[in-house]
Amino acid sequence: MKSTYILAFESSCDETSVAVLKDGQKLLSNVIATQIASHKRFGGVVPEIASRHHTEQITYCIEAAMEEAKVEPSDLTAVAVTEGPGLVGALLVGMTAAKAFAWAHDLPLIGVNHMAGHLMAANLPDSGGPIEYPALALLVSGGHTELVYVAQEGDYRKIGETRDDAVGEAYDKVGRVLGLTYPSGKTIDEMAHRGQDVYNFPRAMMKEPGYEFSFSGLKSSFINLVHNAEQKSETLNDDDLAASFQAAVLDILLYKTKEALAEFPEIRTLVVAGGVAANQGLRERLASEIKNVKVIIPPLRLCGDNAGMIAAAAYTELKKHNFVGLSENAFPSLSFESMDTGKK
Ligand code: KG4
Ligand code: ZN
Repeated sequence: MKSTYILAFESSCDETSVAVLKDGQKLLSNVIATQIASHKRFGGVVPEIASRHHTEQITYCIEAAMEEAKVEPSDLTAVAVTEGPGLVGALLVGMTAAKAFAWAHDLPLIGVNHMAGHLMAANLPDSGGPIEYPALALLVSGGHTELVYVAQEGDYRKIGETRDDAVGEAYDKVGRVLGLTYPSGKTIDEMAHRGQDVYNFPRAMMKEPGYEFSFSGLKSSFINLVHNAEQKSETLNDDDLAASFQAAVLDILLYKTKEALAEFPEIRTLVVAGGVAANQGLRERLASEIKNVKVIIPPLRLCGDNAGMIAAAAYTELKKHNFVGLSENAFPSLSFESMDTGKK
């Protein structure tokens, strides 16, 4: 059979990325231009600045990805692009570039859900894939926290999500209170390893049935504790604060995941993906507490936003000839349900 080559674009947030994937398996390139330095001083991603950087970077990323992969446009089978969820202006840059490339080289276009991308990063051999189905995915990033049941490849059903803040968002907000630079997840993770869980923060939603999460109460408790201490001129131990926050987060994530694994004993693979899957504390607890299923956590370079994961999810759609037209739009609130209903 003839080999397939997918050229994929990702620009949903603050990473401009272009990748080439061969036969749904081998990433020949995965070029990532990060803008984090530009957003740091604002303590979060500024959408307008993000769009501008994507516009500046995208053509360089295409050239670099094609060159590194040693492919020509005539070698390509399809172009794939993140169509949502994400920042609309940022998404539109990738969408426009992908459409232009597809049109210029007469290639079919595949629209990819960003969260399906995070999930399917786990299917790559570099991550320890393939995923064996049925699978459960815990997707944890700066914008999302959800549990997804995947009956078979490409069949995603969200069974629970956060009611308020995403885990990564909570890490970044708490980091701000500690005076850390954005994004602060990695630093808090490191501090947590030096501290102790002494502050006993609330573990929300652990008593409620179902798979909903909530992190805003935890975030508020953290902020209140720090502010009250400041007012009384008391000093708190930052490492202990980080450890206490992380322990509460991990207790909630592990509890809900184990509940879902118990309810669906047919599950063969647990995928943990998204930027927060880089968390060492989470990785350690998964390794020691999840025993009866194959656990796949993509390597760090495939956990954060990257086009390689978009290509991996696109391969599923390529096999089904699930293409979109050149009038395709970007969908900032795109959900998994839209893959069944077609409504975006
Ligand atoms: O998936 P991602 O790269 O971007 C989004 O789609 O949101 O995730 C970024 C998020 C940030 O909130 C960042 O603080 C968090 O992932 N993060 C971490 C760690 N590394 C990155 N959170 C906890 N522990 C880490 N080691
Ligand atoms: Zn992401």
